[in-house]
This record gives sequence, structure tokens and C-alpha cells, in this order.
Amino acid sequence: MYTNRFSRVGFILAAAGSAVGLGNIWKFPYITGENGGGVFVFVYLLTVILIGLSIFIAEVLVGSSTNQDSVTSFETLSPKGKKYWKYSGFTFLTGIIILSFYSIVVGWILNYVVIALTNLPQNSAEAESVFMTMLKDDIFTQLFYYTLAFLIIAYTISKGVKKGIEKLNNYLMPTLIMILIIMFFYSMSLSGFTKALEFMFYPNIEKFHASSIIIAVGHAFFTLSIGMATILSYSASLDRNINIVKASITIVSLDTLIAIVAGIIIFSVVFTAGQEPSQGPGLVFVTLPAIFYEMGIIGNIMAIAFFVALAFAAITSAISVLEPTVMYLVERKKISRKKATYGISFIFYILGIFALLSNTNSFSEILTFGTKNLFDWFDFITAAILMPLGGILLAVFVGYVMDKQQIRNKLVPLMGEKFFKLWLILIRYVAPISVFFIMLNETGLLKL
Ligand code: PHE
Repeated sequence: MYTNRFSRVGFILAAAGSAVGLGNIWKFPYITGENGGGVFVFVYLLTVILIGLSIFIAEVLVGSSTNQDSVTSFETLSPKGKKYWKYSGFTFLTGIIILSFYSIVVGWILNYVVIALTNLPQNSAEAESVFMTMLKDDIFTQLFYYTLAFLIIAYTISKGVKKGIEKLNNYLMPTLIMILIIMFFYSMSLSGFTKALEFMFYPNIEKFHASSIIIAVGHAFFTLSIGMATILSYSASLDRNINIVKASITIVSLDTLIAIVAGIIIFSVVFTAGQEPSQGPGLVFVTLPAIFYEMGIIGNIMAIAFFVALAFAAITSAISVLEPTVMYLVERKKISRKKATYGISFIFYILGIFALLSNTNSFSEILTFGTKNLFDWFDFITAAILMPLGGILLAVFVGYVMDKQQIRNKLVPLMGEKFFKLWLILIRYVAPISVFFIMLNETGLLKL
């Protein structure tokens, strides 16, 4: 039995900390920019509510029903003769691969906090060169910040749920939210604010394609941290008597709200500078720093606040990816938390070094396989294959394998009969089928 438990607020902050990450502040704004703004936001909201929230509730249900690590959870909840479902618990291995490229980006952000504090690039050409030099040539700087990210993540997890994860989130999440609120109010005073609102909420059909729907569903998954035992393991470390439906709705709403607020802030800045919103992944590391510089002292303060917020969001997500594996080793294999944490962290650290080197000029050739380098492969394998697969397994398990009466007893008092029926349809049909199509599309087996 897990004695080291989250408090109610601790759980909500930690799960929101997991959900709110690079996906919200870095990725959501640029995919919205690339996919036509308003229509994309609308489709995204729909998928978050229909697919994201229902899988999220299912994952919290599994974790909180057993209070065990993910493998034991699946094992305990499968009926006799179907105990092989325990292997679904191993989806936590996806996290090790995610960590090995996610922590590299955490490293970049830490570097950008320092850049924001010392000297921002003065125009977009310089901003581009600062980013590209870091990425392609400066192995030492990247390794330094990557190691720092690794140490923060491993240290927090080694301290456990209460003294590590909960404590860190208790500090970082409220600070992050405060920073975003202040930045939001400031962005209201910018001339680009109304244009940003219009862009985010006014449908622009032109840039919206069938593939945008797939991107929206895929992103709903990534941003909610579902399909890889993360939310399951956090929920397993939760106090028993909490309303899991209410908690799930709170976390999912917070995640969505933060993505939208981050989008409005970023687009207000971009439109005020007279630039275009569709600038791809370079939006945060290239476009914004140069605009911040042009804004003078206020821009400088904004740059610091922005990268600190991004760092906090990314760190609280990164730690959540490591926890399920460590929990499994501690609970099931009886390895001490410290040993488990540093052992697993060492594996992702080494994998990450190869991923980091694969972006650099000196090593890109030997670390590129086919069309992608190692860094992109890790991203692709996790986002296109492993996370959707984890999501399908979870939906099928809860929808078809787990004891229906047990689920009903737990959920009907919390959501009522009508919503329970709707949720069941979403979990049994809508979620697995749509996620299956994303997988086919993203792996290139079906092209939309
Ligand atoms: N949800 C996080 C984000 O939006 C990323 C993440 C994915 C975290 C999977 C944990 C598990 O950045």
C-alpha cells in the first residue's frame, strides 16, 4: 500500500502540473497558428471535452480504484483468465523515451531564462542565429543545461510523492498561474490584443484541413498526459475519498484555460509587432525573443517571466513522466526510491545525450536514421505510436474488460446515469476508434 499520498489540492496541482507543459505554452499556439486559428480551437475544445476528458476520467478511475502501481492496477482489475492485461501497465516505458527529448527542451528553456536575464537577441536574424548555434554547434551549453534539467527532475522524484512532487508543484504551479495572469492583463493593453482574440476565436476555414482534426486529437492526448500511466500513477497516490469526476473536470479545464491564455498572450505580442502567427516551432525560441527585445524594458521583464513560466510548466510535466516507472520499481520490485530514480534517470539521461547530439552538426549524420534524426524519432515514436496505443489499451480495458458493475457503482453517484451512459459510449467507441485513426495517419499508413 502506498503510504506516501497526495492531499486533495496536492493531487490537483500535481496532475495539472503534469498536463500543463510545453504542449500548452509552446505547441498549442503554433499549431493553432498553422491550422487556421478559430476553427482549430473549436475542434480542439470539442476533442478535449469528448475524448480527452473521458479517457482522463478512465485513467483516474483505474489508478484510484487500486492505489497501486500501473502494472498491479491493471492486474488487479482484470477478471480471472485475463491477467495478461497487466502488460498494459508497462506503457510507462513511453515516459522514458519522452523524457529523453523533453528534458533537452527543458534544458533549452533554462538556457533561455539566462538569455532573457542577460542579453536578448536584438532582431529576428540574431534570434535565429542564437537558437541555431545553441542547437547545432554548442554541445557544451546544451549538455550543461540538459544535465541541470536532469538533476532537478531526478532529485524531485527521489524525494517521493509528498516531499518531492507535491512540494515542488505547490510552489511552481501557483507561481506559473500568477505569471500568466499578470502577462494576460498586460497583453490586454497591447494593440494586438483584439486581433489575437479574433484570430483565436474567429473561424478561418482556409488553413483548416482534414489533417487539422488529427492534429487536434493527437494534441488533446499529449496535453492531458494520458495514455502512458502518468495520470494513473498520480491518481493511485491519491487519498481515497475525493470526487474523481470533479477533480478530472477541474484539471482538464485548467489545462485548456492555460493553453488558451498562453495563446492569447503570445498572439497579442506577435500581432503587436506586426508579424504573422503561423511561424512553426520557432515561435517561442526565435520570434518571441526578438519581439521582446524591441519592446524595451517591459519586453525584457516579459521575456524573463515568460521563460520562467515555461520552465516551471515543463519541469512539473517532466517529473510526472518519470514517476510511473519509479513507482513500479518501488512498489512491485521493492527497490528503494533513490536507487530506482537514479537508475532509471541514468538510462534516460544517456538516451537523451544521443538525442541531443543528433541535432548537432558534428553528429547529425551518424545519428540520423532514414528521414529523421534520433531526437525526431523519439518524438515521433511516442506521439504517433506509443501514446495513442496506450490510450486505446486504456479505453478498451475500461470499456470492455473491467467489471462494469464496479465502474457503474463508482461513477454513477458522481456523474449521474445520463452522463455515465454518454461516457461509456465515448470510452467504448468514440475514443478508441478516433485514436486508432490518428495512429494510422501519423504513421503514414493512412494519409488525410
Ligand atoms: N502534458 C505535457 C505537456 O503538455 C506533456 C506530457 C506528456 C507529460 C505525457 C506527461 C506525459 O507538455
